[in-house]
Amino acid sequence: MFLKNVKPYIRKKISIRTRLTLFYSLAAFIIMTVITLFLYWESVNVLYKADYQFLADEAESIQHILQNNKLNSNALAQAVIDVPAHHGNSIYRHYVRILDENNNTIIETPGSPKIPLVDPARNPPSAHHFKKSYRWYNTHDTSYLLVQTPVTLPKGKSGIMLITLDISYQHAVISDRKFLIIALLISTLCSLCLGFLAAQRGMRSLYTLTDTVKKITVTSLNQRTDPKSLPKELSALGVAFNQMLDRIESSFDRLKQFSSDLAHELRIPINNLIGETEITLSRAHSPEEYQQVLMSNLEEYHRISQLIENILFLSRAENPQMEIQKTSIYVQDEISIVCEYYEAMADEKNISVTCQGKAALRANSIMFRRMISNLLSNALKYTPDNGWIRFTITSQDNRVKIILSDNGIGISQEHLPKLFDRFYRVDSARSQLSGGIGLGLAIVKSIVDLHQGVISISSMPDQGTVIQLVFPA
Ligand SMILES: Nc1ncnc2c1ncn2[C@@H]1O[C@H](COP(=O)(O)OP(=O)(O)O)[C@@H](O)[C@H]1O
Ligand SMILES: [Mg+2]
Repeated sequence: MFLKNVKPYIRKKISIRTRLTLFYSLAAFIIMTVITLFLYWESVNVLYKADYQFLADEAESIQHILQNNKLNSNALAQAVIDVPAHHGNSIYRHYVRILDENNNTIIETPGSPKIPLVDPARNPPSAHHFKKSYRWYNTHDTSYLLVQTPVTLPKGKSGIMLITLDISYQHAVISDRKFLIIALLISTLCSLCLGFLAAQRGMRSLYTLTDTVKKITVTSLNQRTDPKSLPKELSALGVAFNQMLDRIESSFDRLKQFSSDLAHELRIPINNLIGETEITLSRAHSPEEYQQVLMSNLEEYHRISQLIENILFLSRAENPQMEIQKTSIYVQDEISIVCEYYEAMADEKNISVTCQGKAALRANSIMFRRMISNLLSNALKYTPDNGWIRFTITSQDNRVKIILSDNGIGISQEHLPKLFDRFYRVDSARSQLSGGIGLGLAIVKSIVDLHQGVISISSMPDQGTVIQLVFPA
């Protein structure tokens, strides 16, 4: 519960740099603590191992003396009473005390500490027993390590031997952990600083990337990041960012192109209207002449209104939230309704329009008719007299395919990719003469998209055009 509340807080309030620094320092602290503890434990072990060995050697040599000499022999006195004040290189004092079977001290090193016996076992010593008989004894200012072991006294009597080693100095060195703590604190502090520097260095590329991104505005959409200068983790982000900018830039360019095209398209009919009205107003006319001007103006009004309607349709169709009402339609019926509408135009040019095959489809019938109408009007426009136009409908694997072919003027290869762009016309002069504004195929494409269909065009100049539409049934 607590963690649940804390996590978002950490994510929001604590920077990546701080988090990296803290994590790095924590990891370094844990590793250093483990290593320090291990080394400490190992050195303590090494120190005590030497003491155990000393006590074991001493016990063995005294036992040897006891077996071969009398209790008041010189050798024993030398081993027990005149013990050296140090062994090896260190200043360790050790004491020997030998007790008889009644626990009375027989002989002892002068100044031996009075350490009580524990559970005196008088069985002959064994290696196992010897190990177990080590123990520590602390008075308020001295620490001892001692071994209490049974011995065989001269004449075969059993006794107990106590060898005590003053390890106060060693103990003091071992218990003084101040140095360790200071070393740990200093190294933790160092790792904090190093961690901060490392995180700062690591984040530098991110700051550079942020700076580049900050500088990008509508007027400088051509700026790009240099993925090669970024570390591996960020270069993918840099590349993705550049690709996003490419897409935004091209959309923006298209938008700019679109608005300039739109202005251009509106300017022509409005200029025509202004010119015609000015000329008409320059002198008086007969009612018939005025009527003619108004009729010609009406044509321009229709043109403008159609342009606005088309633009509105396209912008609505681009809205991702747009939902269309679909019903089950018979493709051949819809096509023949549209063909009937264009019959007069086809007859005028003596173009035969045929439709083969049939299929049912779920579609918005108004949009479907508009799509067929745009395609058929193009085919009629760009097919010379006495030509033919053919619709072929097939349905297979839950897909309905509609192919519209004509033997018209065709389109050369370089125009094909741009045909669906708004206001794109292959030959604008010719297209304009026939009333085209280059929105027909853009509308067809948006209707196909709204129906999750696919459209493709293939064409050969002077041979004809084939448009293929595929829809899910
Ligand atoms: N069936 C066709 N045959 C030859 N050219 C065509 C055909 N259909 C479309 N085109 C070309 O595609 C261009 C774009 O068509 P469209 O978007 O309908 O615009 P518009 O008809 O207003 O010129 C047309 O200018 C024309 O050059
Ligand atoms: Mg057209």
